[in-house]
Amino acid sequence: MTDRLTIRRPDDWHLHFRDGAVMRDVVPYTARQFGRAVVMPNLTPPVTTTALAAAYRDRILAAVPEGVSFTPLMTCYLTDTTDADDLARGAADGVFTAAKMYPANATTNSAAGVSNIENLYPVLARMEAEDIVLCIHGEVTEAQIDVFDREKEFIDRHLRAIVATFPKLRVVFEHITTSDAVDFVMESGPQVAATITPQHLHINRNAMLVGGIQPHNYCLPVAKRESHRLALRAAATGGSGKFFLGTDSAPHLKRDKESACGCAGIFGAPYALESYLTVFDEEGALDLFEGFASLHGPAFYKLPVNEGEVTLERAEVAVPPVLHVTGEEIVPWHGGATIGWRFVG
Ligand code: NCD
Ligand code: ZN
Repeated sequence: MTDRLTIRRPDDWHLHFRDGAVMRDVVPYTARQFGRAVVMPNLTPPVTTTALAAAYRDRILAAVPEGVSFTPLMTCYLTDTTDADDLARGAADGVFTAAKMYPANATTNSAAGVSNIENLYPVLARMEAEDIVLCIHGEVTEAQIDVFDREKEFIDRHLRAIVATFPKLRVVFEHITTSDAVDFVMESGPQVAATITPQHLHINRNAMLVGGIQPHNYCLPVAKRESHRLALRAAATGGSGKFFLGTDSAPHLKRDKESACGCAGIFGAPYALESYLTVFDEEGALDLFEGFASLHGPAFYKLPVNEGEVTLERAEVAVPPVLHVTGEEIVPWHGGATIGWRFVG
C-alpha cells in the first residue's frame, strides 16, 4: 500500500478569493498547497476590465505569505457590454488567463452576467481568434427549470451551440456535476475540458437534504443524485486529460451559510488536496492523481507545469469544525470530520 505520495506542485483551476480582509485570510490556504490558481471574477463590482484585474491581482499577491511562491491567474467577468479589445489586450499583456461566463443570476454575485448568450457571440469569436480560454458556469437560470436539471439544460440549449459555432475556442466547463456533462466533455474535441470539485466527488444530494437541511453541503451547481457522483469519480480518476482539479473554493461565513437564505458555496481550500486524494485512493487510482492535479490543467491552458513538488502521507487528520476569517467563524469542507491523508508540504 502506498502511504506517501509526491507529485509535481499542483494548481487550482477554479476558485474564489473574494476581496479585502476575507481575501487576505483565505489566500494563504491556497498558496500553501498550489502553485497557481484561476481566480474567479465575481466580486462586487465584478472584475470586468484589464485594469480591475491587474489591481485585484496586486491585492492578491500582497496577501501571499512571505517566502511562498504563488501566482494568481486572473479571469475577466463577461457581461452584455464586454469590451473585446480590452479583453484581448489584457490577455496579450498576460493579465487575463481566461474569461468567465456566468448566465445572469446563476450563482453568487452573478447579477451582471450574460443575459443573452447569443449576444456574446462577437466576443466569443474574438476569444477564439485570440486563443483566450472561456470558462463557463453551465447552468440555465429560467425560473421554470428544475434546479437539478439546469446543467443538462445548459448543455442542450447553449453549450452544444457554442462549441459547434466556435470549434477552436478552448472551453472549460466549470465544476461539472452530472454524467451528462462528463459525456458531453468526452464526446467533444480536445478544446473542451472540465474542472471537478472535491465536494461533487464526495457527496450526492442526500448529503444536503437528509437528516435536516445541511447548509455546508450546499453549493452551485448543487450536488446531484448518486449516479452522477459516480460518473464524476470515474471521470476524475480515469486518467483523461480533459478533466482537472478546480476546487470552486467559495468562502462564506458560517452565519451566512446557516441562515434562512443560506449562501451557495463550500470553502474547500484548506484541505483541498487531502480531499481529492482520498477519492483517488478509494478508487485505486493514486498513480493518476498527479495528472488530474498538476499536469492536465497546464497542458490545456498551454502553461508550463510548476516547479517543485508536494508530498502527502497517509494519516488520520481531524479537520477543525470551524476556522476563522476576519475573526469570524467559517466552516471548511470536511469540517468536524476525519480524513485519511495529510499534506506534508
Ligand atoms: C460560488 C461563490 O460563492 O462565489 N458559489 C458556489 O456555490 N460555487 C459561485 C459559483 O462558482 O457558482
Ligand atoms: Zn465558482
